[in-house]
Amino acid sequence: MIFSVGLAIVTLQATAFATPLASPLDSRASVAFIPPAQGGGSMLDDAGNGLGEPLNVIISGLSSPSVLTDNGFLNYAQSLGFSTECFGVHLGGPQAANLGDGNGFVNQTTELREDYGNEALGTCLESLVGGNHLRMYRQNGPSADTGALFLAVSREQPITQSHDIIPNGYDIGRDELVANATKQTSNAGVTYSATASTITGLLPTGSAGVNHGIALDGNVVLLTVKTL
Ligand SMILES: *[C@@H]1O[C@H](CO)[C@@H](O)[C@H](O)[C@H]1NC(C)=O
Ligand SMILES: *[C@@H]1O[C@H](CO)[C@@H](O)[C@H](O)[C@H]1NC(C)=O
Repeated sequence: MIFSVGLAIVTLQATAFATPLASPLDSRASVAFIPPAQGGGSMLDDAGNGLGEPLNVIISGLSSPSVLTDNGFLNYAQSLGFSTECFGVHLGGPQAANLGDGNGFVNQTTELREDYGNEALGTCLESLVGGNHLRMYRQNGPSADTGALFLAVSREQPITQSHDIIPNGYDIGRDELVANATKQTSNAGVTYSATASTITGLLPTGSAGVNHGIALDGNVVLLTVKTL
């Protein structure tokens, strides 16, 4: 009797440990991201006109897990000076990206604009005067479930210019976001620090295939964000 009870306990414990080890959360902790091209994806999204916008910032899957959730990312982006769009109104259609994770093309999870210091109304100002802007995509499909967040960052022109990207606006938008991220930032009681590294060879250089014909320097910045 004692022997069989002991076996039952061992079996339960093995099950209890085996389940979390096999879960996606565990594999997520092991890799920063997987290059989309490895799974037939692209670092250019689909702007709907045969051209694409660059996924020029990656939030590493090795970041603090809370940063990689929808709410956690919003709080982090707010700490950098972004917020939700003006009264939830989208100006312009969604864009889709294929992160090579087995999900194929998926529309952006979220779209955020610079908030000029006012989370409620500032993005309306951005919509009028232009400013920094991002679309976020999550690499979470079955063949590359890293949890990394791929951002298409761009600095936009005022609405009078139909919200086109300013000259050099992809590289500038990326660099502005990264400059803020590598300072210590905080929002709603959470403080963040990030380390940045530049990766070449993921994006093309130049303007071939790039929306609005704006040339890229080809750099992607990988941010590893930790909550303090
Ligand atoms: C980031 O920093 C720059 C330079 O200080 C600032 O102009 C910008 O508003 C900040 N926010 C974003 C979202 O880039
Ligand atoms: C993206 O959203 C648009 C508008 O809702 C929809 O028509 C389109 O099919 C979506 N694309 C993908 C890849 O889900």
